[in-house]
Amino acid sequence: MANKSIDLKHHLSQSALRRQSVYETISYSRGNASPNLVNLDSGVPASEYFPFETLSSEFLKPDTFPLDPNISSVSQPSTKENDGFLGWLASFFTSSLSNKEDGATLDTLKIARYKQREGDFEVSTLMGYSPPAGLAPLETWVKDFVSKVYRPGYSDWATLVDIGAGDAFAKVLDVLASPGDGCFVDEWSYNHSLARMRSFKVTPFPVKIDAGGLDPGDLETILRNWDESKRGCSRPRLLLQVPVGQNPTGITLSAERKRAIYAIAVQYDLIIIEDDPYYFQQFGAYVRESTEVRALKYAKESNDREWIESLVPSFLRFDHQGRVVRFDTFSKTIGPGCRLGFFTASPLFRKHLMICQNNGTLQASGLSQALVGTLLKEWGFDGYVRWLRGLRGRYRLRRDWTIDFLHERFNIKQSSIFVAYKYKKLVVDEKHLHVVDHHDEKEDHGGGTNPLFEFVPATSGMFLWLKVYYHHLVETRSPSEARTFLSDRLWKGLLDSGVLFRPGFVFQGRSEEERDQVDDTFAFLRMCYAMATHDELKKGVERFSKFIVEFFD
Ligand SMILES: Cc1ncc(COP(=O)(O)O)c(C=O)c1O
Repeated sequence: MANKSIDLKHHLSQSALRRQSVYETISYSRGNASPNLVNLDSGVPASEYFPFETLSSEFLKPDTFPLDPNISSVSQPSTKENDGFLGWLASFFTSSLSNKEDGATLDTLKIARYKQREGDFEVSTLMGYSPPAGLAPLETWVKDFVSKVYRPGYSDWATLVDIGAGDAFAKVLDVLASPGDGCFVDEWSYNHSLARMRSFKVTPFPVKIDAGGLDPGDLETILRNWDESKRGCSRPRLLLQVPVGQNPTGITLSAERKRAIYAIAVQYDLIIIEDDPYYFQQFGAYVRESTEVRALKYAKESNDREWIESLVPSFLRFDHQGRVVRFDTFSKTIGPGCRLGFFTASPLFRKHLMICQNNGTLQASGLSQALVGTLLKEWGFDGYVRWLRGLRGRYRLRRDWTIDFLHERFNIKQSSIFVAYKYKKLVVDEKHLHVVDHHDEKEDHGGGTNPLFEFVPATSGMFLWLKVYYHHLVETRSPSEARTFLSDRLWKGLLDSGVLFRPGFVFQGRSEEERDQVDDTFAFLRMCYAMATHDELKKGVERFSKFIVEFFD
């Protein structure tokens, strides 16, 4: 039997402590209400005046997306594309089932004004103010999901429905950080979280990363040698991690790294903030192989339950003290428009996050909670896992295609990092870039040419993080001039060429002053392969390669 969480209340921020007393006065009445109490307290509109009589939706079956590219399990939804050749093949197999008119691909759900059965949502409740922890049926689903999938390492963990990971991070800062504090981050980190910290007057302190993610050795060294007077800040007590398919680098922490990082957190009394939107997009390593080989390989994969078991465990799994605050989001698994997610944390942190929510956004949207909650209930746990696995298969294809296309346009030397060189016999004319010789790869990059760019072949998530070199520009410019030149010319030039990346500088964990002390000879571009179809990815990589080769020539 796992232990309970330990007392970590010394981590609460000044604002969390200030807010607590007001909340406790109001919540006293709720705890002491008799069943026949006449409620003249809350400012809730009368439920009979809500204009919606019912809410209904048609939704896809959980096995809509085939698990392997050649064999479609059931059906295809209406998509803006058919994922190129493989999608065409899949839709060929399923065309008789994919006609929306016959209703074969869709199920329906309906939510009535007053619930018919225990455990249903009802319009009269979901349209009102709901408990800050979430509407009861969704809260129940969330707890069950966390206990089956993440299995926290302590016994009294608790959950809280929220409005997505971006806002969850703001709430965590509010509850666990005070202005003037610091927070450890990866040296390249999600731009919105960095911006949020800076606006809260919380300083991000970057820790080195390598192809395996945050370097525990560097974190430990920084903590051990922390000098408050030099750093202008007491030793940070927070560590932000996006452990799977990190945004922007696409890197995934292994279980061993997580264990090592957790041990450091215990030793130095850190709270780990686990922001993990890409958890269910764990693909495994990229291998350059034919579509046929991939199809055979992917078809042989384990069943749904085994797949869930095979995922790198969450930090929660290693947490035996309640020092991990994890947030999940439905943004990447259902859709960002629903603005819905949930926390998992110790009862103490969950209580303060709930007070913070109650004091601000109040609750997640009742409409979202009910629609998503009913969908999840209809699918059931196994159905949702099957849905996640189907999505993961589609995004894995897009990852594979993107790296395949990069191979077609560049001479790529593979190790844990892929380094891209120009093909020796590559010709650029007015309109086209021709690779004349594909076969001479060894000789080609052995010829002393500089690498153009490199990247870690993502094993998860939605991103490739391209590190573009500009050694030759540094000869004629100072580092900061070269950097400005690059940010202007490279990223905007690509935009003019018809392909949009997110420029790397927005993810910079270091401050401007720190950056100016470093002579970088590279710039980063974040490439997101999630949204584009097979043909768009091909076109995007072609435009990128044409531009890059001309840029360096
Ligand atoms: C690391 C990370 N955190 C948070 C978010 C925002 O998630 P949500 O839509 O749940 O607010 C994103 C979205 O891209 C993300 O990549």
